[in-house]
Amino acid sequence: MVLLGVNIDHVATVRQARKTFEPDPVMAATLAIIGGADGITVHLREDRRHAQDRDLKILRDVVPCELNLEMAATEEMIEIALAVKPDMVTIVPEKRQELTTEGGLNVLDLRDSLKEVIKKIKDGGIPVSLFINPDRVDIECSKKIGVDMVEIHTGYYSETRRQAQLKELERIKDAVAYALNMGLKVNAGHGLNYYNVKRVAAIRGLRGLYIGHSIISRAVLIGIEEAVREMKKLIKEACMDV
Ligand code: PXP
Repeated sequence: MVLLGVNIDHVATVRQARKTFEPDPVMAATLAIIGGADGITVHLREDRRHAQDRDLKILRDVVPCELNLEMAATEEMIEIALAVKPDMVTIVPEKRQELTTEGGLNVLDLRDSLKEVIKKIKDGGIPVSLFINPDRVDIECSKKIGVDMVEIHTGYYSETRRQAQLKELERIKDAVAYALNMGLKVNAGHGLNYYNVKRVAAIRGLRGLYIGHSIISRAVLIGIEEAVREMKKLIKEACMDV
């Protein structure tokens, strides 16, 4: 079975909009696990726009399954990873202005610095994955610089339709097979939703899918009726008390 890692950053985004205590991504993580998530992903960005250091620390204490820390390859993040010890680290490219991770790592250009970062994290006993485009050269390079795992970027597949989407699906399938053949564990993610996930989940040999936005978006809609019902009940009770 392909594992499901749920990314709870979007819960933190809502909290940070008000800089308050709710919704707590840690609570969301616990509920996701009760719902069947095999793991929790959190992306601690350099600008801390959503997840905070406190979230990562508490998640480390309460997540009994795989805790995947997404991070940029910076000294600050390496220090945090080595101190918190998530079950795995996924290195992603990070730009301050982007709305979300926009593409895979430029593994070829960054190979020397990435190799050092990977070694430091692995020396701390933490497996490392690289978020890469479905590209054979990037896969070969990832293997050479010492990772155990890669995550294939499915963003372009998710954004396209019809022929373009099918073509991208073939590119992802080829990348998965190629990476498996090189002895890498292979994950995939980005932009996957309730309508496009099946074709990717059916790819043989995939270890896990990492999904965030669509699950949290659905949770907002599925939960809204009950949330309003509860508020109405409180108001009604208060009115009856006076
Ligand atoms: N995988 C990686 C490496 C990501 O950066 C993200 C987005 O944070 C995801 C998966 C999940 O993407 P989405 O929120 O579109 O499901």
